[in-house]
Amino acid sequence: MSDTHPDLDPLTAAALLRFYADAGVDLPLDEEPHDRLGEARAVLERAPPAREAEAPRLEAVAPAAAVHADSAVQDAKRIAAGCGDLAALKAAMAAFEGCMLKRTATQLVFSAGVAGSRVMLVGEAPGAEEDRMGEPFVGRSGQLLDRMLAAIGLSRTENVYIANVVPWRPPGNRTPTLTEMAVCEPFIRRQIELANPDVLVTIGAPAMQTLLGLKDGILRVRGKFYDFNTGSRTIPALATLHPSYLLRRPEHKAFAWRDMKALRAKLAATSISQ
Ligand code: URA
Repeated sequence: MSDTHPDLDPLTAAALLRFYADAGVDLPLDEEPHDRLGEARAVLERAPPAREAEAPRLEAVAPAAAVHADSAVQDAKRIAAGCGDLAALKAAMAAFEGCMLKRTATQLVFSAGVAGSRVMLVGEAPGAEEDRMGEPFVGRSGQLLDRMLAAIGLSRTENVYIANVVPWRPPGNRTPTLTEMAVCEPFIRRQIELANPDVLVTIGAPAMQTLLGLKDGILRVRGKFYDFNTGSRTIPALATLHPSYLLRRPEHKAFAWRDMKALRAKLAATSISQ
């Protein structure tokens, strides 16, 4: 690609780059641009015309994708069940090829904080900063999460363990699809069982829906405790708002503060009864 483009002044080029980044195109894959549409057109033009009966039909393709997803879920269940500790689980997830997000992510984002803490938080999926650093919740929303935790005496350096439902960054920070979450679910469930917290906190709607199976909106279910079966025992699970939502809707921070106080009270109550 030449250094200057006859039609692009620096301001237009910067606006175009911003547009690409917002659209999720944030990874250079090659030095030279490729005209993928032109390449596909050339292949089609070379191919003999298909009779209608031979052309691939959606009904034939869609079940194939469903079968692939189902076998990825079965693989994930089998692999996760075979991991005896968090280090083995992390290695198995890093080697897992069943989730397409791995192909576009920089790396696996497995966990932050102290494994074995009484509190485990589970978010949705890594963003750009987490993808770069390899650690959950290190971007702007992570900083807000740290302040929320600090308000009740919790910190990822001492007494909290953090992970995500999906450990690879979805391109452009989009919400993971239901299929992506279903494929990754056996891993996060096993991660919770192995980390063995006393209280689970789901952060945001996708984590709440995946782990607690609740269908209502997050504003209705937040702030309450639900039973969560880790596989070894039943623990209380609290659904709360996602800090990136709170950055957009600061007027709802009061709800999050109530949730943090409920978490603090639950921790105090369960440590007395143990
Ligand atoms: N949002 C999440 O849900 N998880 C992260 O790790 C970062 C942002």
